Formats: sequence, C-alpha cells, structure tokens
Amino acid sequence: MSASAITAATPRRILLGVTGGIAAYKSAELVRLLRQRNVAVQVVMTHGAEQFIGAATLQALSGQEVRTSLWDTRAEAAMGHIELARWPDLVLIAPATAQCIARLANGLADDLLSTLCLATDAPLVIAPAMNRLMWAHPATRENVRRLESRGVRVLGPGDGDQACGETGPGRMLEAAQIADAVLAPPAAAGPLAGRTVMITAGPTREPIDPVRYISNRSSGKMGFAIAAAAMRAGARVKLVCGPVALPPPPGVEWLPVETADELYATVHRHLAGVDVFIAAAAVADYRPRECPDRKIKKDESALALALTRAPDTLASVSQLPSPPFLVGFAAETHDVEHYALGKLERKRLDMIVANRVGEGMAFDTDDNEVVVLWPGGGRRAYARAAKQTLAEDLVALIAERYAARDPAGGGATGTDGGRGPARGHG
Ligand code: CTP
Repeated sequence: MSASAITAATPRRILLGVTGGIAAYKSAELVRLLRQRNVAVQVVMTHGAEQFIGAATLQALSGQEVRTSLWDTRAEAAMGHIELARWPDLVLIAPATAQCIARLANGLADDLLSTLCLATDAPLVIAPAMNRLMWAHPATRENVRRLESRGVRVLGPGDGDQACGETGPGRMLEAAQIADAVLAPPAAAGPLAGRTVMITAGPTREPIDPVRYISNRSSGKMGFAIAAAAMRAGARVKLVCGPVALPPPPGVEWLPVETADELYATVHRHLAGVDVFIAAAAVADYRPRECPDRKIKKDESALALALTRAPDTLASVSQLPSPPFLVGFAAETHDVEHYALGKLERKRLDMIVANRVGEGMAFDTDDNEVVVLWPGGGRRAYARAAKQTLAEDLVALIAERYAARDPAGGGATGTDGGRGPARGHG
C-alpha cells in the first residue's frame, strides 16, 4: 500500500501499537486525542512497553481492553488475533523502537504486535523514538529504508533534547503532530481551508441535585449542521457540545461538556489558534446557586430554587484582546431583529444569526428560518429551509464576511492575531 493511499480517507479504527521506549508516556495523550477526534482505538502493547506505561492507563483512555499477548486464551477467545488484524483501517506504532523497526523490517512474528503487522492489510504508520545514535546507525537506516520501500509511512522522528540527556534526531513526534498526520487533513480547498473554527452546540445541564437538572430544548442539530458544513468548506473544526442525542460528526475535534461552567472552561482551554468562533449552543443563563450532594426530598409543600448567573462564554471571548471572528445566535419569541441587534452590539460580535423560537420553530426541529445581521447595517434573510441547507448558506456567508475583515486574504490569525479597527462595530 502506498504512503499516499494512507491519507486518502480518515481512519475510523486505529490499532495503536505501543513498544518499549520512554516515549510510551506520550501514547496516553495520543489515545486521548484520537478518541477526541472520534476514532476507535485498540491498543496493543509489547512487554517492553509495559515497563514504561501501565495498560490500565491506555485501557481507560481507549475504552477498550489493551491486548498484550498472543497467548492470552481469554482475549483470543473474545477476538482472535486474525480477527483483530482485520479490524483496523490503520495500524499505527508509536513509539516504534529500533528493535520494533528491525523486527518489522525482517517480517518477524514472535509477539502479538509483530504478528498483527504481518496479518493485516491495513496501512502501517510508525513514529520512531530512540537515542540519536541508534537512529543514525546503518542497521536502523537500512531497516527504515526497507519499511519505506514497502509503503510504510514513517512520521519523524523529531530533533531535540532526548530522555537520555543527549540532543539530536530520535525524539518521537508530539502526540498532536501524530494525530494530525494520520487523520485525513481537512479539505485543502474551500473558503475556510487552513482555518480553525470552534463551534458550541446543544444545551447545557445545570444540576439541581445529583439526579435533577435544569436544561432547555436545544437538540444541537443546527450546530452539528454548521460543523459539517464548515468541514466541507475546508476548516478544522472543534465542536464543544452539551448533552445531545446526536453522534459526533466524523473528523471533528469532539469536546463534550455538560454545564455552562464546563462549556466556558473548555472553550477557553482550546481557543488558541481558533480563527472563527460560532456560538450556537443554548447555554443556561442561570444555574442553581447550590447543588447538594444528596437528593432533595419532597418534605415541603413548595420549593424555591436560588439561581445565579452562569458565565457568558461568547461575551467573555469577545472581551479577549484579540478575539477570533465572532458569530452569535439569538433565539427570540418576539421582536427578533430588535433584540438580536442589541446582542450584536453589546457582545461586540461580527455577525449574529437571529431566529424565532416557539410555535414549532427552531428548537428540536429539522428546519429553521433566520435573519443574519452584522455591524454597519448588514442584513441577510434566509427563508425556511432544512438546517443542513441553512448551515451551508451560513458558512458561506461567514467565510465571505471573514474574508472581508481581512481583504489581504490572510484572514485573522486566531487568538494570537489581532482584531484591527476594520472590525467596525456600530
Ligand atoms: N451564550 C454563551 N454563554 C451564555 C449564554 C449565551 O456563549 N452563558 C451565547 C449563545 O451561544 C448565543 C448568544 O450568546 O450565541 C446568545 O446571547 P444571549 O444574550 O445569552 O441570548 P439569550 O440567552 O437568548 O439572552 P436573553 O435571555 O437576554 O434574551
């Protein structure tokens, strides 16, 4: 299989081989990132790897029992190694030690991982990690060349400080670099190519006690449709999502949350590098002031809940020194444009998408009807249509307005960049 074929489709199932090097600690983060991007991960560890990282850690992060041995009759009975070899779309070995590379180059099959590598027809990607002299050794060079000539894709290694105290090539790439390299990159073309878009979607749940909560009717459908449309437009998408019944769209960076506080913290934790922020979530404005750790009993004839304001994530992002391009949503039962305009100005947004709610509109429906407003009197109305169709139109408009903000074509540079006077509110 050629290396270029590897990137032809986004793998949904990755068999992650972990071999015995100190870089095995980075495998935990790699599993977390792959899972976050909605990829099923089955970890196979060598005995050497078990000296560096506990199987329990990788098991907890992958949600799958870690396989370590060819001779584990219980695990073999559940899924035999041939079946396991047929399961993945991709086999990734990270870290791949000099020993592992030598065994792969020679086609050995004397443990579970090496056997799987011979028995699978899935593409193989390795992320080498070793001392710089081991990497430079003619034996390793020759082994790597042999693997590459068979279509194995080699990621890295990086150059820099090594665990052994030396400096040079041999460091395993960082987990995020490996995850980005093996998951299909976003479309190279499209109006948002090269841009990172963060979208909030769905409702939040604010706990009253351990079994009850306050929430709202948001289904997440609009935010999900926008996430899919933004991916088709070439963007890398981070989806921060409250509890919904929808499966994560393939390929998004999936950041699930429950409460308004968690949504706020998650957005700010992952905001670096975001060019466009679209706040489609129906976030609670108020939450119960206290959440007792015991269930509230019905001892009284009436119960008053004290509520306190929840943090406003969109307003807080807008107050950053260099915020991304900001798109808000306004759901109103009456005077839709009047209230939406107020929010556009108050929260210093680049665009607001206003829709009427109630009477069967907007929440938990498959279609919607919106008016989009932007500073300087901009307005575009979209007739009632399926949320997917509206999402395509909204993303096209967002890309257009975003490009207009920076006519040079460079767009904004995310939270590290600047929001110049061209923003022109008012
Ligand atoms: N928003 C947010 N965090 C909150 C509340 C709202 O990020 N705690 C975002 C929503 O995702 C949406 C916009 O802000 O993009 C809505 O603004 P908001 O003024 O909160 O609208 P409503 O909740 O409808 O406000 P009001 O009750 O004042 O009409």
